[in-house]
Amino acid sequence: MLVNMHDFEAVAAAKLSQPAYDYYRGGARDEISLRRNRQAFSEYALHYKVLAGVEQIDLSTSVLGMPVSMPILAAPTAFHGMADAGAEVASARGVTAEGSCFILSTLSNSPMEEVVQQASGPVLFQLYVYKDRGITRELVQRARAAGARALVLTVDAPVLAVREKDARNHFTLPPGLSLANLTGTGKETLEGSGLGAYVQRHLDPSLSFKDLEWLVEQTDLPVVVKGIVRSDDAVQSAKIGARAVVVSNHGGRQLDHSPATLHCVQRIRQALDPSVEVWMDGGVRRGADALLACCLGARVVLVGRPLLWGLAAAGEAGVRQVFQTLRAELNEAMLLLGCSRLDELSPDLVERV
Ligand SMILES: Cc1cc2nc3c(=O)[nH]c(=O)nc-3n(C[C@H](O)[C@H](O)[C@H](O)COP(=O)(O)O)c2cc1C
Repeated sequence: MLVNMHDFEAVAAAKLSQPAYDYYRGGARDEISLRRNRQAFSEYALHYKVLAGVEQIDLSTSVLGMPVSMPILAAPTAFHGMADAGAEVASARGVTAEGSCFILSTLSNSPMEEVVQQASGPVLFQLYVYKDRGITRELVQRARAAGARALVLTVDAPVLAVREKDARNHFTLPPGLSLANLTGTGKETLEGSGLGAYVQRHLDPSLSFKDLEWLVEQTDLPVVVKGIVRSDDAVQSAKIGARAVVVSNHGGRQLDHSPATLHCVQRIRQALDPSVEVWMDGGVRRGADALLACCLGARVVLVGRPLLWGLAAAGEAGVRQVFQTLRAELNEAMLLLGCSRLDELSPDLVERV
């Protein structure tokens, strides 16, 4: 019986090839930030309310005006085809069937048009900026034409940090899988080498706030900036037109020694105008983790690896089960905390211990 995210990971580990499992689970260098993300959730206590008369829990909220059934969304992660033949189509179907919202990576094995078409709810497109701006512009235009509801610009990966498990495994995409959004550009394969070499060859390491300005001008879709841990970067992004920021260190996969993202949420929430949404990811494995992040000021959290474990365990149904499990945990935690709605969550319910 799959009771929690750890169980899903164990099943996924048994099913995946070693290089694929290592690629999904790994972090940068000594994996300090990977561990730190998780650790942070045990550093807060919840001061629950009693006799609060809570009967019905309402977990619904919205992101960028789009209703979602719970404050847990799917983070963009690359290469779902290694976990299940249905790849991102299966993931997006599973996530949206649960009333949540799916963020599709630029580096997906399913093409964005098919993913949006097969999903029953909102799909957002995560953008990596190619040195070749023609390709980037085309991705932006295609995402809008396909029906993606927002662009999520990832800003914490000017280069890909070395994940040493991948280096040892000489990680590359298995035969038969390609970068489906890049078909016809000459950039649809890793060309026999690793992902790090691909990123170095094709993505722009010199990304700056000027590029964010450029993107905001290119599109009428809402732009979300993902990969922020500093409030000055959040404020600057919002000034340029970001409608939301994702407090994220890429799941501990980029700068090792970056802070636990949970520790950054409150500061960033306080620095921004209330109209700018704060989303958060990194290490969310329990409903109560989402609850803590929301108390500290996150509107929603994203989960990266848990979705991949569900997908590897049982395809689209496994993804649904992961979201159902997290929802049940969150429901229980809300009831025990003495809150019936997400807008009742606030920092005075938590204490750093
Ligand atoms: C296997 C894997 C691939 C990822 N690929 C991308 C990506 O293509 N684009 C991106 O913006 N973030 C990517 N991320 C980062 C996630 O969006 C997210 O920030 C992170 O997974 C959250 O941490 P968690 O896995 O602990 O939930 C990836 C993360 C993982 C684990």
